[in-house]
Amino acid sequence: MAETRFKIYRGEKAKGQLCEYHVEVTEGMVVLDAINLIQARHANDLAVRWNCKAGKCGSCSAEVNGKPRLMCMTRMDELPLDEPVQIEPMRYFPHMRDLVSDVSRNYEINKRIKPLTPKPRESDGTYRMQQKDIERIQEFHKCIECFLCQNVCHVLRDQGIQEFSGPRFLIRIASLVMHPLDKLNRLKELKNIFGIGYCNVTKCCTEVCPEHIGITDNGIIPLKERVTGDFYDPLAWIWRSLTSFSK
Ligand code: SF4
Ligand code: F3S
Ligand code: FES
Repeated sequence: MAETRFKIYRGEKAKGQLCEYHVEVTEGMVVLDAINLIQARHANDLAVRWNCKAGKCGSCSAEVNGKPRLMCMTRMDELPLDEPVQIEPMRYFPHMRDLVSDVSRNYEINKRIKPLTPKPRESDGTYRMQQKDIERIQEFHKCIECFLCQNVCHVLRDQGIQEFSGPRFLIRIASLVMHPLDKLNRLKELKNIFGIGYCNVTKCCTEVCPEHIGITDNGIIPLKERVTGDFYDPLAWIWRSLTSFSK
């Protein structure tokens, strides 16, 4: 392949600009290879975060030609090369330097989720679970915490609603709510702390997930149905009022 032009965002704390670099792109290269080449040859101080180069650590998330992608899983031959390839940091998160953003808010939200709280063992000392219940939550455990879904969700990105935890955390909670052994009722927290009501199922999160997790259809919508059933179904409401009155 010929020499390719790149425009890479450089600067600190959102005060920067796109800088142009040229490198030779060869067969089989991914965007992260080109970034590493640019760093080695032209910009030793270019800040970029990556670890595995195998789509598994979730650290190389960026916006490639305006689309949220993992740089290590975006092949150069998928991109139009007649124009410069534009690489920018994820837009939703506070900018740190060059291609690196501060994703620490995610870890703060994660800490608020209560861990799996298993019900007591059966009388023979075992736990019993249906295979279909385990298979149902398996896909949620594939999350690599790339935070691309958090980056594109318009409730966070455009409306900036801080009360909304975001899709990554709703599927983590889904993996616990649907876990056959978990004994906690997490629906009140889902509504009041994690803000599930703010999601209006636009599915942008699902579209960008590199693990192809059914974030909206398999995670968020079933959770919304449970919350609606518990809090807005008149019969459930009457039952809850009666049982709380008798306590
Ligand atoms: Fe990334 Fe998908 Fe996990 Fe969101 S759900 S953080 S897009 S792997
Ligand atoms: Fe946001 Fe995904 Fe809901 S993009 S609005 S969390 S369906
Ligand atoms: Fe690990 Fe890209 S470097 S996912």
